[in-house]
Amino acid sequence: MPEEPPPPVHIAVIMDGNGRWAKERGLPRREGHRAGAESVRRCVEACKELGVRYLTLYAFSSENWNRPPAEITALMTLLERFLEQKAEEMMRQNVRLQAIGHLERLPDKTRRKLEAAIERTAANDSLTLVLALSYGSREEITEAARSLVREAAAGRLGPDEVTPERLAGYLYTAGIPDPDLLIRTSGEMRLSNFLLWQISYAELVIFKKFWPDFGESDLFEAVGEYSRRHRRFGGL
Ligand code: FPP
Repeated sequence: MPEEPPPPVHIAVIMDGNGRWAKERGLPRREGHRAGAESVRRCVEACKELGVRYLTLYAFSSENWNRPPAEITALMTLLERFLEQKAEEMMRQNVRLQAIGHLERLPDKTRRKLEAAIERTAANDSLTLVLALSYGSREEITEAARSLVREAAAGRLGPDEVTPERLAGYLYTAGIPDPDLLIRTSGEMRLSNFLLWQISYAELVIFKKFWPDFGESDLFEAVGEYSRRHRRFGGL
């Protein structure tokens, strides 16, 4: 029997199509997000089952602040409920929660609940669930560049010391390995300002279905596709 290839260490997901899923059913958009939160739960379980170590979900982009206030409120409420209800489950399942993005832009109540869940799960070490919230990749890279310039201006850094590794150390994701697999739902072929630096060598798997219809079997299918691809990192 050929040996099973190892699962991806890190899976990143652009969860797209909640709104269209709801529209197809004549439901308000928030119902699509609510159903999407159920897919999050299924996805976490599938990752645990496979032994994936990091799962990063694009839950709220910096551009999402331009959505109608009622939809933003619905998303924040959903996130708060998720954090309250799932903290216990994350403890049981040994899942650690982390977050990346401009977290200070989140409403106080949401941020407090997020911080509490992050703190509570900090010692867990099976799967790390990373929520990208108020996240934008260009802002992240710009901030890293700003930190490098600050170091240089203080005389602690010369031009030759600016390396990819050093820059990556200033990203929100410092210490987290780069994603091996990027999944996007709803058939769009875009990266939408998500982890642009980190996904340089990730395998991309796109699903036509909307995020609320995404289930465990889809995650297994994506990982199967990932395992079949020959990953060469630009070499032979
Ligand atoms: C994209 O669908 C999805 C989002 C902007 C939000 C993702 C949020 C969730 C899945 C639920 C909450 C998350 C957690 C972690 C509890 P869209 O609204 O852009 O869909 P559309 O493109 O069809 O309009």
